[in-house]
Amino acid sequence: MKLFVVFALVAAASCAPQNPQDVQILRYDVNNAGIDSYNFAWELSDGTKHEEQGQLKNIGTENESSVVQGQYAWVGPDGVQYTVTYIADENGFQPQIQQGPGGAVPSAVVASLLG
Ligand SMILES: *[C@@H]1O[C@H](CO)[C@@H](O)[C@H](O)[C@H]1NC(C)=O
Repeated sequence: MKLFVVFALVAAASCAPQNPQDVQILRYDVNNAGIDSYNFAWELSDGTKHEEQGQLKNIGTENESSVVQGQYAWVGPDGVQYTVTYIADENGFQPQIQQGPGGAVPSAVVASLLG
């Protein structure tokens, strides 16, 4: 029983919302290879993160276009982590939202993500 209480406290502490002033940058990587590709990734201590890579395809043809794919995530006020994985290409922005255990994505959030 005591062990369970300790686990519960640790879990609660790691999920507790952080004061915005206490949020730390855990990772910040940016690579720009010039005009044809780039990628970046950053992560904050409050569980917010975003990584993305973009690439130019069909370079020099009439169908030259860029393809961007990535993923961003955040921990909602409900303590649930939400993750949006997307690809954006000639077919538009195509997001997929996933949620951690313990919550359902509010329909208004889904609607705003899907435009
Ligand atoms: C560009 O895309 C169009 C439409 O998909 C296609 O008809 C055309 O053949 C493509 N051009 C090249 C150079 O691939």
